[in-house]
Amino acid sequence: MSRIFSGVQPTGNLHLGNYLGAIRNWVRLQEEYECLFCLVDLHAITVWQAPDELRRNTREVTAGLLAAGLDPKRTVIFNQSQVSGHAQLAWIFNCVTRLGWLNRMTQFKEKAGKQRENASSGLYVYPNLMAADILLYKATHVPVGEDQKQHLELSRDIAQKFNSDFGVDFFPLIEPLIMGEATRVMSLRDGSQKMSKSDASEYSRINMTDDADAIALKIRRARTDPHPMPEAPDEFAERPEAGNLMGLFAGLSDTSVEDVCKRYGGEQFSTFKQQLADLAVSVLGPIQDEMRRLTAEPDHVDAVLRDGVERARALAAPVLDAVFEIVGFLRP
Ligand code: TYM
Repeated sequence: MSRIFSGVQPTGNLHLGNYLGAIRNWVRLQEEYECLFCLVDLHAITVWQAPDELRRNTREVTAGLLAAGLDPKRTVIFNQSQVSGHAQLAWIFNCVTRLGWLNRMTQFKEKAGKQRENASSGLYVYPNLMAADILLYKATHVPVGEDQKQHLELSRDIAQKFNSDFGVDFFPLIEPLIMGEATRVMSLRDGSQKMSKSDASEYSRINMTDDADAIALKIRRARTDPHPMPEAPDEFAERPEAGNLMGLFAGLSDTSVEDVCKRYGGEQFSTFKQQLADLAVSVLGPIQDEMRRLTAEPDHVDAVLRDGVERARALAAPVLDAVFEIVGFLRP
Protein backbone atom coordinates (compact mmCIF):
# COMPACT_ATOMS: atom_id res chain seq x y z
CA MET A 1 0.00 0.00 0.00
CA SER A 2 1.62 3.27 -0.99
CA ARG A 3 -0.55 6.29 -0.30
CA ILE A 4 -3.94 6.88 1.32
CA PHE A 5 -6.39 9.66 0.53
CA SER A 6 -9.85 10.37 1.85
CA GLY A 7 -12.19 13.31 2.30
CA VAL A 8 -15.09 14.64 4.31
CA GLN A 9 -17.51 17.43 3.46
CA PRO A 10 -17.41 20.40 5.84
CA THR A 11 -21.18 20.77 5.78
CA GLY A 12 -22.19 20.52 9.43
CA ASN A 13 -21.82 18.31 12.42
CA LEU A 14 -19.89 15.10 12.09
CA HIS A 15 -22.00 12.15 13.18
CA LEU A 16 -21.40 8.63 14.40
CA GLY A 17 -21.60 7.28 10.83
CA ASN A 18 -18.72 9.54 9.75
CA TYR A 19 -16.74 8.50 12.80
CA LEU A 20 -17.21 4.72 12.66
CA GLY A 21 -17.39 4.45 8.87
CA ALA A 22 -14.38 6.62 8.13
CA ILE A 23 -12.58 8.84 10.63
CA ARG A 24 -11.72 6.22 13.21
CA ASN A 25 -10.18 4.10 10.46
CA TRP A 26 -8.18 7.10 9.24
CA VAL A 27 -6.71 7.52 12.72
CA ARG A 28 -5.58 3.91 12.68
CA LEU A 29 -4.21 3.95 9.15
CA GLN A 30 -2.02 7.01 9.77
CA GLU A 31 0.12 4.88 12.11
CA GLU A 32 1.33 2.80 9.18
CA TYR A 33 0.80 4.68 5.95
CA GLU A 34 1.36 8.02 4.29
CA CYS A 35 -2.05 9.69 4.45
CA LEU A 36 -3.81 12.78 3.14
CA PHE A 37 -7.19 13.80 4.53
CA CYS A 38 -9.13 16.58 2.91
CA LEU A 39 -11.95 18.93 3.89
CA VAL A 40 -13.73 18.86 0.56
CA ASP A 41 -15.17 22.37 0.41
CA LEU A 42 -15.48 22.25 -3.40
CA HIS A 43 -17.74 19.24 -3.01
CA ALA A 44 -19.69 21.01 -0.27
CA ILE A 45 -20.81 23.82 -2.57
CA THR A 46 -22.48 21.40 -5.00
CA VAL A 47 -25.47 22.20 -2.77
CA TRP A 48 -25.98 25.69 -1.35
CA GLN A 49 -23.74 26.65 1.60
CA ALA A 50 -23.96 30.02 3.32
CA PRO A 51 -20.38 31.41 3.16
CA ASP A 52 -20.01 32.13 6.89
CA GLU A 53 -21.33 28.72 7.79
CA LEU A 54 -18.99 27.04 5.33
CA ARG A 55 -16.03 28.80 6.96
CA ARG A 56 -17.23 27.86 10.43
CA ASN A 57 -17.96 24.26 9.47
CA THR A 58 -14.59 23.84 7.79
CA ARG A 59 -12.84 24.85 11.02
CA GLU A 60 -15.19 22.78 13.14
CA VAL A 61 -14.83 19.60 11.10
CA THR A 62 -11.05 20.07 11.07
CA ALA A 63 -11.18 20.35 14.87
CA GLY A 64 -13.24 17.13 14.90
CA LEU A 65 -10.62 15.28 12.87
CA LEU A 66 -7.82 16.48 15.15
CA ALA A 67 -9.83 15.66 18.27
CA ALA A 68 -10.52 12.16 16.94
CA GLY A 69 -6.75 11.63 16.80
CA LEU A 70 -5.44 12.65 13.39
CA ASP A 71 -1.89 13.82 13.87
CA PRO A 72 -1.06 16.80 11.64
CA LYS A 73 2.67 16.10 11.92
CA ARG A 74 2.30 12.65 10.49
CA THR A 75 -0.63 13.27 8.18
CA VAL A 76 -1.51 15.96 5.64
CA ILE A 77 -4.79 17.68 6.61
CA PHE A 78 -5.96 20.42 4.25
CA ASN A 79 -8.90 22.00 2.48
CA GLN A 80 -9.51 21.17 -1.13
CA SER A 81 -10.17 24.63 -2.59
CA GLN A 82 -6.65 25.75 -1.63
CA VAL A 83 -4.96 23.26 -3.95
CA SER A 84 -6.01 24.37 -7.42
CA GLY A 85 -4.98 21.06 -8.96
CA HIS A 86 -8.20 19.43 -7.70
CA ALA A 87 -10.37 21.61 -9.92
CA GLN A 88 -7.92 21.44 -12.82
CA LEU A 89 -7.70 17.66 -12.85
CA ALA A 90 -11.47 17.41 -12.32
CA TRP A 91 -11.96 19.38 -15.55
CA ILE A 92 -9.78 16.92 -17.44
CA PHE A 93 -11.81 14.07 -15.93
CA ASN A 94 -15.04 15.82 -17.01
CA CYS A 95 -13.71 15.20 -20.51
CA VAL A 96 -12.77 11.56 -19.81
CA THR A 97 -15.91 10.38 -18.00
CA ARG A 98 -18.86 9.33 -20.16
CA LEU A 99 -22.32 10.72 -19.41
CA GLY A 100 -23.66 7.19 -19.19
CA TRP A 101 -21.33 6.49 -16.28
CA LEU A 102 -22.58 9.52 -14.35
CA ASN A 103 -26.19 8.63 -15.08
CA ARG A 104 -25.74 5.45 -13.08
CA MET A 105 -24.64 7.22 -9.88
CA THR A 106 -27.23 6.53 -7.18
CA GLN A 107 -26.08 9.38 -4.93
CA PHE A 108 -26.91 11.98 -7.59
CA LYS A 109 -30.36 10.44 -7.99
CA GLU A 110 -30.90 10.50 -4.21
CA LYS A 111 -29.58 14.01 -3.68
CA ALA A 112 -31.18 15.61 -6.74
CA GLY A 113 -34.43 13.72 -6.16
CA LYS A 114 -37.45 15.21 -7.89
CA GLN A 115 -35.59 18.50 -8.32
CA ARG A 116 -33.24 16.99 -10.91
CA GLU A 117 -33.66 19.82 -13.43
CA ASN A 118 -32.83 22.28 -10.70
CA ALA A 119 -29.76 20.49 -9.28
CA SER A 120 -26.37 22.16 -9.84
CA SER A 121 -24.20 20.78 -12.62
CA GLY A 122 -21.52 20.47 -9.93
CA LEU A 123 -23.63 17.86 -8.16
CA TYR A 124 -23.77 15.86 -11.38
CA VAL A 125 -20.00 15.84 -12.00
CA TYR A 126 -19.26 15.44 -8.28
CA PRO A 127 -17.73 11.95 -8.76
CA ASN A 128 -15.23 13.30 -11.31
CA LEU A 129 -13.95 15.72 -8.67
CA MET A 130 -13.66 12.81 -6.24
CA ALA A 131 -11.54 10.90 -8.74
CA ALA A 132 -9.39 14.02 -9.16
CA ASP A 133 -8.95 14.36 -5.38
CA ILE A 134 -7.51 10.88 -5.14
CA LEU A 135 -5.53 10.70 -8.37
CA LEU A 136 -3.95 14.15 -7.97
CA TYR A 137 -1.80 12.42 -5.35
CA LYS A 138 -1.70 9.06 -7.14
CA ALA A 139 -3.23 7.62 -3.99
CA THR A 140 -3.91 3.90 -4.13
CA HIS A 141 -6.16 3.26 -1.12
CA VAL A 142 -9.24 5.15 -0.04
CA PRO A 143 -10.84 4.47 3.36
CA VAL A 144 -14.56 5.32 3.23
CA GLY A 145 -17.95 4.13 4.41
CA GLU A 146 -20.01 1.79 2.25
CA ASP A 147 -21.99 4.69 0.68
CA GLN A 148 -18.94 5.88 -1.29
CA LYS A 149 -18.21 2.55 -2.94
CA GLN A 150 -19.95 3.31 -6.23
CA HIS A 151 -18.07 6.61 -6.57
CA LEU A 152 -14.78 4.81 -6.04
CA GLU A 153 -15.62 2.24 -8.69
CA LEU A 154 -16.18 5.16 -11.05
CA SER A 155 -12.83 6.67 -10.02
CA ARG A 156 -11.22 3.40 -10.97
CA ASP A 157 -12.91 3.46 -14.37
CA ILE A 158 -11.77 7.04 -14.92
CA ALA A 159 -8.15 6.14 -14.11
CA GLN A 160 -8.34 3.17 -16.44
CA LYS A 161 -9.89 5.14 -19.31
CA PHE A 162 -7.36 7.96 -18.94
CA ASN A 163 -4.52 5.43 -19.08
CA SER A 164 -5.94 3.66 -22.10
CA ASP A 165 -7.01 6.84 -24.02
CA PHE A 166 -3.50 8.23 -23.76
CA GLY A 167 -1.67 4.89 -23.94
CA VAL A 168 0.06 5.37 -20.60
CA ASP A 169 0.37 3.49 -17.36
CA PHE A 170 0.12 6.64 -15.26
CA PHE A 171 -2.71 6.51 -12.73
CA PRO A 172 -2.85 3.64 -10.25
CA LEU A 173 -6.05 1.66 -9.81
CA ILE A 174 -7.83 2.74 -6.68
CA GLU A 175 -8.77 0.29 -3.94
CA PRO A 176 -11.55 1.22 -1.51
CA LEU A 177 -10.88 0.34 2.12
CA ILE A 178 -14.20 -0.33 3.82
CA MET A 179 -13.27 -1.35 7.34
CA GLY A 180 -14.90 -2.38 10.60
CA GLU A 181 -18.36 -3.46 11.73
CA ALA A 182 -20.12 -0.15 11.13
CA THR A 183 -19.46 0.62 7.46
CA ARG A 184 -23.04 1.67 6.88
CA VAL A 185 -24.57 3.24 9.96
CA MET A 186 -28.31 3.69 9.53
CA SER A 187 -30.73 6.30 10.82
CA LEU A 188 -31.93 5.67 14.38
CA ARG A 189 -35.48 6.40 13.18
CA ASP A 190 -35.52 4.26 10.05
CA GLY A 191 -33.26 1.27 9.46
CA SER A 192 -33.60 1.60 5.69
CA GLN A 193 -32.03 5.10 5.54
CA LYS A 194 -28.39 5.85 6.21
CA MET A 195 -27.47 8.13 9.09
CA SER A 196 -26.87 11.48 7.43
CA LYS A 197 -26.21 15.15 8.16
CA SER A 198 -29.08 16.12 5.92
CA ASP A 199 -31.81 14.11 7.68
CA ALA A 200 -34.40 16.57 9.00
CA SER A 201 -34.82 14.65 12.27
CA GLU A 202 -32.17 15.30 14.95
CA TYR A 203 -33.26 11.98 16.48
CA SER A 204 -32.04 10.13 13.40
CA ARG A 205 -28.35 10.65 14.19
CA ILE A 206 -25.84 10.96 16.99
CA ASN A 207 -23.65 13.99 16.41
CA MET A 208 -20.06 13.94 17.58
CA THR A 209 -20.95 17.03 19.61
CA ASP A 210 -24.01 15.58 21.40
CA ASP A 211 -23.72 15.56 25.18
CA ALA A 212 -24.35 12.49 27.33
CA ASP A 213 -28.03 13.33 27.90
CA ALA A 214 -28.71 13.84 24.20
CA ILE A 215 -26.96 10.58 23.31
CA ALA A 216 -28.93 8.64 25.93
CA LEU A 217 -32.21 10.19 24.83
CA LYS A 218 -31.62 9.51 21.13
CA ILE A 219 -30.67 5.89 21.79
CA ARG A 220 -33.63 5.42 24.11
CA ARG A 221 -35.92 6.75 21.41
CA ALA A 222 -34.23 4.73 18.63
CA ARG A 223 -36.67 2.57 16.77
CA THR A 224 -36.60 -1.16 17.52
CA ASP A 225 -39.12 -3.97 17.18
CA PRO A 226 -41.23 -5.79 19.76
CA HIS A 227 -39.18 -9.03 19.73
CA PRO A 228 -36.29 -10.01 22.00
CA MET A 229 -32.91 -9.05 20.56
CA PRO A 230 -31.54 -11.07 17.61
CA GLU A 231 -29.39 -14.08 18.44
CA ALA A 232 -27.48 -14.10 15.15
CA PRO A 233 -26.60 -11.52 12.46
CA ASP A 234 -28.63 -13.42 9.84
CA GLU A 235 -31.74 -11.97 11.52
CA PHE A 236 -30.61 -8.41 10.72
CA ALA A 237 -31.97 -8.44 7.17
CA GLU A 238 -35.49 -8.74 8.58
CA ARG A 239 -34.76 -6.52 11.57
CA PRO A 240 -32.64 -3.62 10.27
CA GLU A 241 -33.10 -1.33 13.30
CA ALA A 242 -31.94 -4.04 15.71
CA GLY A 243 -29.05 -4.86 13.38
CA ASN A 244 -28.04 -1.20 13.24
CA LEU A 245 -27.93 -0.76 17.02
CA MET A 246 -25.99 -3.99 17.46
CA GLY A 247 -23.62 -2.95 14.67
CA LEU A 248 -23.07 0.35 16.48
CA PHE A 249 -22.27 -1.53 19.68
CA ALA A 250 -19.79 -3.75 17.81
CA GLY A 251 -18.19 -0.73 16.10
CA LEU A 252 -17.89 1.31 19.28
CA SER A 253 -16.53 -1.58 21.35
CA ASP A 254 -14.32 -2.96 18.56
CA THR A 255 -15.88 -6.38 18.67
CA SER A 256 -17.86 -8.33 16.09
CA VAL A 257 -21.64 -8.35 15.63
CA GLU A 258 -21.47 -12.10 16.32
CA ASP A 259 -20.09 -11.32 19.79
CA VAL A 260 -22.77 -8.70 20.41
CA CYS A 261 -25.44 -11.24 19.40
CA LYS A 262 -23.94 -13.80 21.78
CA ARG A 263 -23.91 -11.30 24.59
CA TYR A 264 -27.36 -9.75 24.15
CA GLY A 265 -29.34 -12.20 21.95
CA GLY A 266 -32.73 -13.03 23.48
CA GLU A 267 -32.68 -10.08 25.91
CA GLN A 268 -34.92 -7.01 25.90
CA PHE A 269 -33.70 -3.85 24.23
CA SER A 270 -33.97 -1.59 27.28
CA THR A 271 -30.85 -2.76 29.18
CA PHE A 272 -28.88 -2.99 25.95
CA LYS A 273 -29.84 0.56 24.98
CA GLN A 274 -28.62 1.90 28.31
CA GLN A 275 -25.31 0.09 27.85
CA LEU A 276 -25.01 1.28 24.26
CA ALA A 277 -25.55 4.87 25.42
CA ASP A 278 -22.86 4.51 28.12
CA LEU A 279 -20.48 3.04 25.56
CA ALA A 280 -21.12 5.85 23.05
CA VAL A 281 -20.55 8.47 25.78
CA SER A 282 -17.30 6.80 26.86
CA VAL A 283 -15.99 6.82 23.26
CA LEU A 284 -17.24 10.27 22.22
CA GLY A 285 -16.73 12.10 25.54
CA PRO A 286 -12.93 12.52 25.34
CA ILE A 287 -13.17 13.51 21.65
CA GLN A 288 -15.72 16.18 22.53
CA ASP A 289 -13.54 17.60 25.29
CA GLU A 290 -10.70 17.93 22.84
CA MET A 291 -12.99 19.40 20.17
CA ARG A 292 -14.16 22.09 22.58
CA ARG A 293 -10.56 22.95 23.39
CA LEU A 294 -9.62 23.17 19.71
CA THR A 295 -12.69 25.14 18.73
CA ALA A 296 -11.58 27.78 21.21
CA GLU A 297 -8.26 27.90 19.35
CA PRO A 298 -9.10 28.75 15.72
CA ASP A 299 -5.53 29.95 15.11
CA HIS A 300 -4.21 26.49 15.79
CA VAL A 301 -6.74 24.92 13.43
CA ASP A 302 -5.87 27.48 10.73
CA ALA A 303 -2.17 26.77 11.18
CA VAL A 304 -2.76 23.04 10.71
CA LEU A 305 -4.66 23.71 7.46
CA ARG A 306 -2.00 26.14 6.22
CA ASP A 307 0.75 23.63 6.77
CA GLY A 308 -1.36 20.86 5.19
CA VAL A 309 -2.07 22.91 2.08
CA GLU A 310 1.63 23.55 1.50
CA ARG A 311 2.48 19.88 1.75
CA ALA A 312 -0.46 18.88 -0.45
CA ARG A 313 0.52 21.42 -3.14
CA ALA A 314 4.06 20.09 -3.20
CA LEU A 315 2.81 16.54 -3.72
CA ALA A 316 0.24 17.54 -6.35
CA ALA A 317 2.40 19.78 -8.54
CA PRO A 318 4.55 17.13 -10.27
CA VAL A 319 1.53 14.89 -10.88
CA LEU A 320 -0.44 17.71 -12.50
CA ASP A 321 2.59 18.69 -14.60
CA ALA A 322 2.88 15.15 -15.87
CA VAL A 323 -0.86 15.02 -16.65
CA PHE A 324 -0.65 18.27 -18.65
CA GLU A 325 2.23 16.81 -20.61
CA ILE A 326 0.34 13.57 -21.30
CA VAL A 327 -2.81 15.42 -22.39
CA GLY A 328 -0.81 17.62 -24.75
CA PHE A 329 -1.14 21.02 -23.14
CA LEU A 330 1.66 23.27 -24.31
CA ARG A 331 3.85 24.27 -21.36
CA PRO A 332 5.59 27.45 -22.53
P1 TYM B 1 -19.14 12.56 3.51
O1 TYM B 1 -18.70 13.90 3.94
O2 TYM B 1 -20.59 12.34 3.21
O3 TYM B 1 -18.74 11.48 4.59
C1 TYM B 1 -17.40 11.36 5.09
C2 TYM B 1 -17.10 9.88 5.33
O4 TYM B 1 -18.06 9.33 6.24
C3 TYM B 1 -18.64 8.15 5.69
N1 TYM B 1 -20.04 8.05 6.08
C4 TYM B 1 -20.58 6.97 6.64
N2 TYM B 1 -20.06 5.78 6.97
C5 TYM B 1 -20.90 4.88 7.55
N3 TYM B 1 -22.21 5.13 7.81
C6 TYM B 1 -22.77 6.30 7.47
N4 TYM B 1 -24.05 6.55 7.74
C7 TYM B 1 -21.95 7.30 6.87
N5 TYM B 1 -22.17 8.57 6.44
C8 TYM B 1 -20.98 9.01 5.96
C9 TYM B 1 -18.52 8.34 4.17
O5 TYM B 1 -18.56 7.11 3.50
C10 TYM B 1 -17.19 9.03 4.05
O6 TYM B 1 -16.14 8.10 4.02
N6 TYM B 1 -17.87 12.25 -1.33
C11 TYM B 1 -17.37 12.10 0.02
C12 TYM B 1 -16.16 12.96 0.33
C13 TYM B 1 -15.04 12.87 -0.65
C14 TYM B 1 -14.12 11.80 -0.77
C15 TYM B 1 -13.22 12.18 -1.81
C16 TYM B 1 -13.98 10.58 -0.13
C17 TYM B 1 -14.70 13.81 -1.57
N7 TYM B 1 -13.58 13.39 -2.26
C18 TYM B 1 -12.17 11.34 -2.21
C19 TYM B 1 -12.93 9.77 -0.53
C20 TYM B 1 -12.05 10.13 -1.55
C21 TYM B 1 -18.48 12.48 1.00
O7 TYM B 1 -19.40 13.18 0.66
O8 TYM B 1 -18.28 12.05 2.28
